Amino acid sequence: MGMTAEEIKACCAVSYQQDAVALILGDSYHPGGLELTRHVARSIGLQPGQRVLDVASGPGTTAFLLASEFGVEVDGVDLGELAVAKANLLAEEQGLADRVHFDHGDAERIPLPDASIDAVMCECAFCTFPDKATAAAEMARVLKPGGRVGITDVALDPARLDAELQSLAGWVACIADARPVAQYVEMLGAAGLEVMVTEAHDDALARMVDQIDARLRALRIAKVPAVENIDFDTALERVAHAERAVRDGIAGYSLIVAEKPA
Ligand SMILES: C[S@@+](CC[C@H](N)C(=O)[O-])C[C@H]1O[C@@H](n2cnc3c(N)ncnc32)[C@H](O)[C@@H]1O
Repeated sequence: MGMTAEEIKACCAVSYQQDAVALILGDSYHPGGLELTRHVARSIGLQPGQRVLDVASGPGTTAFLLASEFGVEVDGVDLGELAVAKANLLAEEQGLADRVHFDHGDAERIPLPDASIDAVMCECAFCTFPDKATAAAEMARVLKPGGRVGITDVALDPARLDAELQSLAGWVACIADARPVAQYVEMLGAAGLEVMVTEAHDDALARMVDQIDARLRALRIAKVPAVENIDFDTALERVAHAERAVRDGIAGYSLIVAEKPA
């Protein structure tokens, strides 16, 4: 039996809070790491003093970078309660708590008023939202007129996904509902946002998959408690599959910049 939308969301939020994920992915949970985050921030034209929303803020790394390097205030929203609590603790530790705050919330019901945000970022998460049209409408709702949204995400062609890759998608709990870029563009347009830029960053996804492969191999030897439940043979098999999907152009990673009309 398939999972309900609420179950998919909860499963994704719980999965990304595991210590093993931090060991495998590092500080930021998206392809391209901090370099791509900086590029997105420049692409949406962040200016010091602006208020930015990071939708699905995860460990908070993006929010901390935006606050310290771009001089903005950041509201992070994530469905993972533990992730939100940890990120708020980190904000305190880094002396950024006056400018960075995380709230527990759903991208499909953003806990912020209409037209209260200057810019929105959403990295490697839009593909996970079961109701993408509502999530896009929520981003448009909280943005001030003239504000921009920068989304980076896995873009797949579901028609070309084979059964094994579909099970990989289920296994990482999140990329099962990734779509072709054209569909993301259409959804943002339907939410009233004008798409200005789309860019392929497929190399970033290829590098991330290679990194996951290398870390899994190292962790298999290290045998640390956080990874004792991982079935390494199956995990490595699936990573090899993902590597082929990226190489064959079935899976990629894209940046989309859109603007709410002034
Ligand atoms: C791949 S991680 C990306 C985290 C962060 N954006 C980054 O790049 O480091 C996906 C994140 O989406 C969050 N998430 C999934 N569904 C969500 C939803 N409906 N609303 C808010 N956050 C959600 C998960 O809890 C997880 O932190």
